[in-house]
Amino acid sequence: MNDKENIIEIHGLKKSFDKGRTKALTGVDLEIKEGEFISIMGPSGSGKSTLLNMIGAFDKADEGSITVAGIDLMKEKHLDQFRSQKIGFVFQLHNLIPNLNVLENVEIPMLRTKTTNEEMDKRAMELLELMNFPNLSETVKQNPTRLSGGERQRVAIARALVNHPSIILADEPTGALDSKTTQMILDLLKDIHKKENVTLVMVTHEPDVGAQADRTITVLDGKVVEGKT
Ligand SMILES: Nc1ncnc2c1ncn2[C@@H]1O[C@H](COP(=O)(O)OP(=O)(O)OP(=O)(O)O)[C@@H](O)[C@H]1O
Ligand SMILES: [Mg+2]
Repeated sequence: MNDKENIIEIHGLKKSFDKGRTKALTGVDLEIKEGEFISIMGPSGSGKSTLLNMIGAFDKADEGSITVAGIDLMKEKHLDQFRSQKIGFVFQLHNLIPNLNVLENVEIPMLRTKTTNEEMDKRAMELLELMNFPNLSETVKQNPTRLSGGERQRVAIARALVNHPSIILADEPTGALDSKTTQMILDLLKDIHKKENVTLVMVTHEPDVGAQADRTITVLDGKVVEGKT
């Protein structure tokens, strides 16, 4: 993997909240190669989600440098566009919209693109098929409230993939699931990572889950303390 380019490059990144009183990131240095599967571990409150949110440009850092997929996030003005084109995000609690059906939920990120309805349906179905749903033609018409936790997470993963992202950011994607469902979701993520060569950055507090990545780093008090490249 040494000949691959860095898709994520972070140096001296700092972020605080509450007018500087809460220091969430205190100087993160991190390089991630294109196509890598990396897991981020560390105690509660250490800054893992904040780091993921910086990579996905959900929030701006205070200091340091962060370049993701060739875009300098400290300078870039069109962060929404960057995010919808380059990033797929999977949250712990899936964040599906309860009053939209499964198909509509998966199509949300495509609504702002120039995709036609037919193309949206085709792409969403294609991805949901990858997620191995039994009775998919029925499932797509249901609201996510009727699905199990693992099924909802599979819908969320399909949604994260619709715009062919270069990077998937997953924040505790299996945190709310039992061990069997956890492995199924991980296998799906690993499969996509391999097939589509996407870079996968996953936060987890479960050592067994983290160990399945190519590389594990640990965040402590807002810094990467282990596994730094
Ligand atoms: N939007 C925010 N406003 C104020 N403080 C915040 C905000 N987001 C995070 N923090 C604080 O920044 C620190 C790091 O939080 P973060 O959510 O990144 O931790 P984490 O490692 O993801 O923890 P967990 O494992 O519990 O999810 C914590 O002290 C948290 O309270
Ligand atoms: Mg978190």
